[in-house]
Amino acid sequence: MTLESLLNLVYILSAITFILGFKLMSNPESARRGNIVSGIGMIAAIVATLMFPEIVRYQFIVIGIIAGGAVGLLFAYRTPMTGMPQMVGLLNGFGGLASLLVAWAEFIAHPEQTIFGGGILWLATLIGAVTFSGSIIAWAKLEERFISGKPILYAGQKYVTLLVIAGIVGLGVLFALDAGASNAGGFLVIVTALALILGILVVIPIGGADMPVVICLLNSYSGMAACASGFIVQNNLLIVAGALVGASGIILTLIMCKAMNRSVANVFLGGFGSGAQASTMEVVGEIKPVKSDEAYLMLEAANSVLIVPGYGLAVSQAQHAVRELLEALEKNGTEVRFAIHPVAGRMPGHMNVLLAEANISYDAMVEMDAVNPTMETVDVCMIIGANDVVNPAALEDKASPLWGMPIIEAHRARTVIVMKRSMGKGFAGVENPLFFRNNTRMLFGDAKASLQALVNEFKTGH
Ligand code: TAP
Repeated sequence: MTLESLLNLVYILSAITFILGFKLMSNPESARRGNIVSGIGMIAAIVATLMFPEIVRYQFIVIGIIAGGAVGLLFAYRTPMTGMPQMVGLLNGFGGLASLLVAWAEFIAHPEQTIFGGGILWLATLIGAVTFSGSIIAWAKLEERFISGKPILYAGQKYVTLLVIAGIVGLGVLFALDAGASNAGGFLVIVTALALILGILVVIPIGGADMPVVICLLNSYSGMAACASGFIVQNNLLIVAGALVGASGIILTLIMCKAMNRSVANVFLGGFGSGAQASTMEVVGEIKPVKSDEAYLMLEAANSVLIVPGYGLAVSQAQHAVRELLEALEKNGTEVRFAIHPVAGRMPGHMNVLLAEANISYDAMVEMDAVNPTMETVDVCMIIGANDVVNPAALEDKASPLWGMPIIEAHRARTVIVMKRSMGKGFAGVENPLFFRNNTRMLFGDAKASLQALVNEFKTGH
């Protein structure tokens, strides 16, 4: 067996581990194993790639690995769990930038291209540049740095976007038809500039509440950009891995669109989540704060308790305290379930991962669609650091940025206990009428401290 066929065999095995990894990741219980399996496949793929005879010098590769690895490690260590969406956004952007640079390097080295070659260069440039600039804007919006998290709108926005797309396609055709011509470089420069602008145009109109969908979409784009680079450098594994990321990202985007009731077509044009004006709906009712001893009495008397975790649970790192409360409630004979909204927290599966960290059984977790029809039978719905995902304005207020997003309908439970630190707003930045409802009690304080106080109440029995 030649070295080349041996290395290709490693590639095939790596591709299999990626697919197997995805399969394992589809279930929370086997997800960690899935990560390890694909990680091993990726290491094997990197080692195999470095052994290809086409690589003549290692200096730049070593410098790249050390510099990139150091920056990546630093970022990963310094980013708190709550900053993950921004981190993912930034990483997608770097993936796009890499594809853009690969396309340009190939064009500079080999300007004479076939129509197919020119088409692929154009595609890698387009997707790479859109992913890069779009991800940087998404990062800045999520960080609220340099740019507000609110939608940025102007008249004729969709038409401007369509015009830019038309320019990119037109120039792409001219470029692909004659990539070797003297003016082809100019075409590619303009395509790059327009694609960078397009990335900005599609993300700026998106409001905070809709950001999860955009991050998933950009993640998918980064995969497609890698796939296009795979064609450019003729690396089969890059094509397969890029296609896998692209396809899974699209599937996740569709799941997110369904979870947030947003139209897929609008997501692609960047014109969604932006129709809301300032809400004119008046919030009625008054805030009814309770102390932990009063909340304990409600929980102690309940037959069924539904816990709705949200971003605040992650901020306060209260997952282990939740587990202690779960044990106390179960000891008391209470049926306890966890209702997880698909966009609770700041990344897909955020709440599942947190609760799994505290060894809370997956059997206790129920999906939003399954739990809503049973809400009237819930004695106490305990909301821990969640806000937008239980905001009834999504169902009742057409002017709300959350309008149309399915929610966990906690307001229909017999009693609601909301644990948060203040009357602070959620990610979408809107008032939550749930907090003012007759059946709602507010238990103010850090989620972890409040949960520990409740556990103590159960221990001391008063
Ligand atoms: P949010 O609406 O963001 O509300 C979180 C609440 O937690 C805040 O109102 C905050 O109120 C409270 N909180 C913060 N720190 C706390 C602490 N230490 N102890 C107790 N409470 C604390 O969360 P959600 O309901 O999970 O909704 C998620 C939102 O994020 C959605 O709008 C979603 O679209 C968006 N988003 C989701 C993702 C993904 S993929 N999941 C990605 C990006 C954005 P106080 O300040 O008063 O404590």
